[in-house]
Amino acid sequence: MLTLRQVARLRDTLDGWRAAGQTVALVPTMGALHAGHLSLVAIARAHADRVVASLFVNPRQFAPGEDFASYPRNEAGDAAAFEAAGIDLLWAPDTAAMYPPGFALTLVPEGPALGLEADLRPGFFSGVATVVAKLFTQTGADIAVFGEKDWQQLQVIARMTADLDLRTRILSGATVREADGLAMSSRNAYLSPSQRERAAALHATLARAAAALSAGEEMAGVLDRERRHLAEVFDALDYLELRTPQALLPVTRLTGPARLLAAARLGSTRLIDNLAVAPATTSNEGTP
Ligand code: PAF
Repeated sequence: MLTLRQVARLRDTLDGWRAAGQTVALVPTMGALHAGHLSLVAIARAHADRVVASLFVNPRQFAPGEDFASYPRNEAGDAAAFEAAGIDLLWAPDTAAMYPPGFALTLVPEGPALGLEADLRPGFFSGVATVVAKLFTQTGADIAVFGEKDWQQLQVIARMTADLDLRTRILSGATVREADGLAMSSRNAYLSPSQRERAAALHATLARAAAALSAGEEMAGVLDRERRHLAEVFDALDYLELRTPQALLPVTRLTGPARLLAAARLGSTRLIDNLAVAPATTSNEGTP
């Protein structure tokens, strides 16, 4: 596994691979790896000849007061995990390589970037879109793989990639969960043992709400009930919303596939999760 930190070296290496007819998949990360990240590497490996993972804790996606300074950093441990997972190249630029002096570009995504996380984390999706666009143009990756746990981020990146006519094809990996259903996240490490126990309620609530909605229960009643439940279990509920899967527009009647998205807090730790919701299938099979 090569580790590179300068854009020119990255370009030379990837140009060489492409000249040899090889395709490249990118797995963007901020490190603090868990099984969810490694599942994305497995998807990348299955779809391209070469796999590049990026490790960059992007300062532009943290609002003032968020955990940029304390975000878990362990490059040696992450590099060992990536190497064991079989990546070919670790792209680990420092901040000056990613944002050289004079850097003066910020993408401002709209559409799926409006509302939900954006209401709680101003500037977050601008920071994500800007760094991901740079990662795509730096690597020229044929494919990039993102986790479905960050569903809104996935839609923002898919929209941005289409809007900029970037050649990178976006793939997604299903959320990897702990035994009690908690979605794996680098920030789970912040939870105390008692918070960790309560955290499982997020997925359990989404699953119960999704089942009730799919069974045809009245939407407002289900959402009200489950919002009250989350507000009791968590220290704060940021949102529980039913949206269209890609544009993330509010759903008022469940007539097609939808996404249930939630964010809640335990102490200063925010947890997010989401689930697909399908409308009840009406089948005439077997009826006379
Ligand atoms: O999901 C993440 O880890 C980050 O938001 C990403 C996509 C690597 C951009 O910094």
